[in-house]
Formats: sequence, structure tokens, C-alpha cells
Amino acid sequence: MAIRNIRTGDDACLYKTAKPVVNFDEKLGMLLDDMAQTMYEADGCGLAAPQVGILRRVIVIDCSEKRNKLIEAINPEIIETSGEQGGMEGCLSFPGEQGYVVRPMKATMRAYDRHGNQFEIEGEGLLARAMLHECDHLDGKVYKRLVEPTPEGYDED
Ligand code: NI
Repeated sequence: MAIRNIRTGDDACLYKTAKPVVNFDEKLGMLLDDMAQTMYEADGCGLAAPQVGILRRVIVIDCSEKRNKLIEAINPEIIETSGEQGGMEGCLSFPGEQGYVVRPMKATMRAYDRHGNQFEIEGEGLLARAMLHECDHLDGKVYKRLVEPTPEGYDED
């Protein structure tokens, strides 16, 4: 495994649409391993392949406090959302920055694992936010485009 360089700011990779994964091979496994290691090392709760310069539809997420609930998702699609939540959001590609973003409270994602098996995962709160944020990256969208003024009286915690 290796830690990959995280692209930041105006890097063109962050603003391009990623292509679907076709080959579920060893190279994909290596990318997933590297992405997870890179995410944990940077203390993030999600990372998308374009953030490490790979324009493929691959994301990793871990929102757990103990950092032991890794989700690997290939060619993910958000198939259902409901509700609404507003909260502060950050991104490993914009270190030290945060913005208030309104997103659905619940989201269901359909994706493939590293072996090519399809699965669905339902997330609420932070997990829903992470799934939506990372899927956005695959379409060249960064959270900063969604930032709204922080509501009056909003307490970050
Ligand atoms: Ni991000």
C-alpha cells in the first residue's frame, strides 16, 4: 500500500467527470488499498479517486469514530434520498476550509465492491452526507459550489 498525493484547489482532476470502472482487477484493488490508507493518514472520512488523480468512479468512506467501518464503492449511484440536513462540510482537497452545506438527511447508494458484486447501502446523517459528497466528486463537483450562508444561531457542534 502507498499513500497517494491528494490533489487540491484548482487541480483540473477535481473538475472532470470520472469514467466507470470496467475491470475489477488487481490494479483496482491496489487503488482501493491506497485510497483507504491515504484517507486514514489524512484523517478524512471519505476520498474519491479523482482526488488522487485517477479519473475513475471509485470512492472510499469511513465515518465511524473508531475508523473501522471502511466502505469501498465502485461505480456508485445515489438511487434514493429523503429529508434534509444542514451542516458544516470539509474536503481533503480544500485543507483547513469548511462551509455550510444543505443535503438530504438520508441517502441510498448502489455500488459494486472490489470483486464486482453489487450492493446497496443506506446512510443517515454524516454517512449520507459523505456518500453524497464523494459521489459529487465523481462528476467533477466539489462541495464549495453548494455552500450557503451559515444560518443565524447555528452552532457548529
Ligand atoms: Ni471532498
